[in-house]
Formats: sequence, C-alpha cells, structure tokens
Amino acid sequence: MSSFFRCIRCGRRSKPETTFRCECGGLQEVQHTFGNLSRDLFDGRACAQRNGSGVWRYKELIHPELADDFIQTRSEGNTKIYSHNNLAKYTGLKSISLKHEGENPTGSFKDRGMTVGISEAKRLGAKVVACASTGNTSASLSSYAAFSGIDCLVFIPEGEIAFGKLAQALAYGAKVVQVKGNFDDSMNLVQEVSELLGFYLLNSINPWRIEGQKTIIFELIQQRLWSTPDWIIFPAGNLGNTSAFGKALREMLQLKLIDSMPRLAAVQATGANPFYELWVEGGSRISPVKNPSTIASAIKIGNPVSWEKAINEIKASKGVVTQVSDQDIMDAKAIVDGSGIGCEPASAASVAGAKTLFDEGLIKVDDDVVCILTGNLLKDPGASVDYHTGVLDGISPNFANKTVVIEPDASSLKDILERGSSTFWGNS
Ligand code: F0G
Repeated sequence: MSSFFRCIRCGRRSKPETTFRCECGGLQEVQHTFGNLSRDLFDGRACAQRNGSGVWRYKELIHPELADDFIQTRSEGNTKIYSHNNLAKYTGLKSISLKHEGENPTGSFKDRGMTVGISEAKRLGAKVVACASTGNTSASLSSYAAFSGIDCLVFIPEGEIAFGKLAQALAYGAKVVQVKGNFDDSMNLVQEVSELLGFYLLNSINPWRIEGQKTIIFELIQQRLWSTPDWIIFPAGNLGNTSAFGKALREMLQLKLIDSMPRLAAVQATGANPFYELWVEGGSRISPVKNPSTIASAIKIGNPVSWEKAINEIKASKGVVTQVSDQDIMDAKAIVDGSGIGCEPASAASVAGAKTLFDEGLIKVDDDVVCILTGNLLKDPGASVDYHTGVLDGISPNFANKTVVIEPDASSLKDILERGSSTFWGNS
C-alpha cells in the first residue's frame, strides 16, 4: 500500500494497523505517496459518484488504495456555505462565511472522519468498534457501525452529553457505557480497554479519522473555486479538526491545489482551555485542565489527545489559538440561530472567536473569513431553550427571543402586540 503511518515525533514509519501511538509515545499520521493530482480531477467529478459523498470524492487524498468494497458511506459532506448581514454586523467584519458541517448525516462533522474510519475497520475485519465522546463522535460512530453491521461501544461521561446526541447513540443501537467521570476519564478508559479487549478505536487519535476530516477543507476551498480565505476559524476540543485542517492545507499546497496558506484560528471555551494556555505560554507539553467546564459540552475537554499535532499545524499556518466565554458563545449562537442558520453551542465558539480576533485587531475588517459550524442546532435543544428562557446560571440572555403566555382569545394577543417590543419580538 502506498499509504503508511508515520510518527509525528520520531518520524518512524509503520504499516497502518490498530495502534495509533509510536513506541516513542508520538502520534501517528497517515502519509500517502500522491500521484499527479490536479484541480480538474476533482472538478470533473459529478456529485453522483461514490453515492455523492463529499468525502470519497477526494479518495486519492485520503485513502487512495482502499478497495471500493470496503467503503461505508452515507453520502456525508456536501455541506453548504452561508453568509448573512447579521453575522457581519455582530463580528464587525465586512462579511463572514459559515460552512455548516451540521448538515452531515448525523448532524456533525464527525461523519466525515467516521466514514473513513469505519471503512478502514472493514478492511481490517474489526468485530467491535469503540470511542469515548462528548456526544457527537458517539452519535456518528453508532450510526456508521449500525449501517456497516459492526458492534459498537461508546463511552460517555455520565449525565454530561447533550440529549440529541445521547438519543442518537441509543437509537442507533450502540452499547452505551456511562462513565462516572468526565470526557478525559472516558478517553483514558477507552484507550485502555480497546488495547486490552481488541476493540478498534475510532476517536480522532485514529489517524484515518483525520484523513476524513481533511475533506472539510478540500470541499470548502473547491466550493470557493480554489481560492483560499485569509482565516479559517473553528472550535477546538480534542484537537482532531485542528490537526486535520492543517494537514489538508499542507497537502493542498504541496500538490499545488492552492497557492497560499490560510491562517487557522482554533477557539476554546475559557473553562476548558488547555490548548489556549499552551499557545500563550509557549510550553513544550500541554498542561491538562483538571475540571473543565463550559456550556459547550462538545468541547468540555481538559486533556486533548491530539495537542502535539495541533500545535504544529497552528504554527505551520501562522495561526492562533484564542478563547471565548460561555456568554460569548451563547450570544454568538443566538445570532447564528436568529439568522436562520442555527448551530449547537460549541459551533458558535467559531463566530465568537471571529469577533474576539477582530476586536483585538488581529483580523481586519476586509479579511476573508470562514467559520466552521461543527454541529446542528438540534443536537442540544436544552441549551437553546434555557438561553431564551433566561435560566442559565451566569449567562445573560442578551439576545433572547422571549415567549408569551396568553388566554386563548384574540384580544389577549392584541394586547400583547400593542404593548410592543419589551414583551415580545424585537427584544434584542
Ligand atoms: N464542535 C463539535 C460540535 C464537536 O462535537 C467537537 C468535538 C468539536 C467541535 C471539537 O472538535 O475535538 O476535533 O477539536 N467533539 C468530540 C466528540 C470530542 O466526542 O464528539 P475537535
């Protein structure tokens, strides 16, 4: 096979198998020997190919030699790019685009990595797949495992994942293991038991997941007719996307599919910010945050697995890491939602991050900025309702859409409408 694992720390090469750390402790990444690949190849491909998948359209860039029989796809990707005046006004930028990865089959970007990971699991003949998750990975893996006829175990922090995501894992038939601890405890446990019991691990420490997630960038740039933005801004938790985005851009430059490198901006929540601290302090190792806390449960992570890849990619793209508060996240979410686009809390960290970086003067008013919305609004309905009804501890519902309760007659409604903005719409 012309694809192999290479340790990002010591450079040692190995055959792609089921261990994702090198003997030296470094993380593995997949390396391919690319042939001659041009923009025309990808432009010439109709969406109908490979069941319309926006991942497998880039097969040569992610898993070139995988036999088609192994491919398990739900036509992931093909997500749209939106812009809206409200978002420009809110962030201060002239314009800003949002690529909506919540439009994937299970409602998050995870499906892009999962189709590749599960296809590789098929190639390896895996019997059981497993992951730890703050919710979306478990939803995605549960779906792809069921679809592919592979048994699935998901490890989630007890009582900590959003309802939409838990509902998905249960409904898709995964064995759901609730761990008395946080995501980091679940992640440690799943690594240990996968090794002990021979489960194929499908967290983003699995380098094939990263290969799939690269297609967010390939597709984004192809949709823009191969022009690169100045900035790509996204939420950062376990740091799989940060790693994937940087790798995608490096490979596109190497293949001359693009001629300039956008800057990556990874955004963390202030209560779960070990990567931000690493960036600011410039240390050589990440210091885990012991009790991470944020309303954006998807990125409530204190000890991100892929920090070493991610910091290299931020540096290679001349990027930055920033942080935003829960208040910033929920206000930005209200603007994204109120523009008719909608996303889950973690996704809105990207827009809050764009505003922060603009306010700090790093991003300029005319810069070409793309934010990645990572998950669908319906993943975490509780967060939306709690914000708009004003019951979130320590968060002011600055852009709340208040509801009213009326008697069932027209005059009650008329009264309310006449009282105007303070009771009903127009509150913000
Ligand atoms: N946004 C959403 C909606 C997520 O679910 C995640 C991660 C991230 C952003 C952060 O991405 O980990 O690549 O830095 N969710 C994982 C999960 C951890 O288990 O679903 P990352």
